[in-house]
Amino acid sequence: MRLKGKVAIITGGASGIGECMVDLFSSEGAIVIAADINEAALEKANQKKNVYGMKLNVASDEEWQVLAKEVNDRFGKIDILVNNAGIASEKPFQEINLDDWQKMLAINGFGPFAGMKHVAPYMAAQKQGSIINISSYTAQIGQGYNHYSASKGAVRAISKAAATTFGWQGVRVNALFPGIIETPMTKALSTSKELLGQLIQATPLQRLGKPEDIANAALFLASDESSYINGAEIVIDGGFSAQ
Ligand SMILES: NC(=O)c1ccc[n+]([C@@H]2O[C@H](COP(=O)([O-])OP(=O)(O)OC[C@H]3O[C@@H](n4cnc5c(N)ncnc54)[C@H](O)[C@@H]3O)[C@@H](O)[C@H]2O)c1
Repeated sequence: MRLKGKVAIITGGASGIGECMVDLFSSEGAIVIAADINEAALEKANQKKNVYGMKLNVASDEEWQVLAKEVNDRFGKIDILVNNAGIASEKPFQEINLDDWQKMLAINGFGPFAGMKHVAPYMAAQKQGSIINISSYTAQIGQGYNHYSASKGAVRAISKAAATTFGWQGVRVNALFPGIIETPMTKALSTSKELLGQLIQATPLQRLGKPEDIANAALFLASDESSYINGAEIVIDGGFSAQ
């Protein structure tokens, strides 16, 4: 019960890494709000103990404002925010246009920014809180000349800046940098055995990541065990980007 009595919002909580975090955090005693744009998928979340599915488009400033207030009013506080919702794209760089760029940056970049903007004040009011932003290994090394990497670079930069902005009010902000994790987002990879084999070969730990690998690190950052960790970056990629 490492999160006993805590109230957590996890965006993108209806699938993949987010869904895994929802299950782990609730099993560790938290009340979890699984916030996602996919309402149909949230029905499953709503059937879980201590989990509340709420519709949220993370790219909407207004929806964030309403959700943060609603959670705080209903549960009395917000202790944890995981900015995990995101989209990816396989488009080659020659085909990426301004609309693609703006949509990607709106969801993957503005989403976490707006989440912190609206939730951190509630955390600051109780002088404690933990925010975990999900970036990507592509924000750290030269992989992916595209809008996805740019959006994850934005997450990296605002996470550091937020740690120095909200830390003074007792709110910690840290970021996770997953490598390739087996989720619906990366399911296309499994259709090519050759590519899959190459990726595994290129990873020192000789496997792809699992949602649990990210959820366990998020649990540590969400819990009081990490109470002096603020502005940290944890890469979870089996050593791929260390090469
Ligand atoms: N899977 C990987 O290999 C990998 C690697 C590095 C980083 N990440 C990041 O981890 C996070 C989770 O990825 P995943 O693999 O679990 O993906 P996923 O596609 O399984 O889940 C993403 C979730 O985000 C939700 N979502 C999308 N747009 C939204 C919006 N506008 N508002 C609210 N919710 C929205 C989706 O409905 C979905 O439930 C993402 O930010 C992703 O970029 C994933």
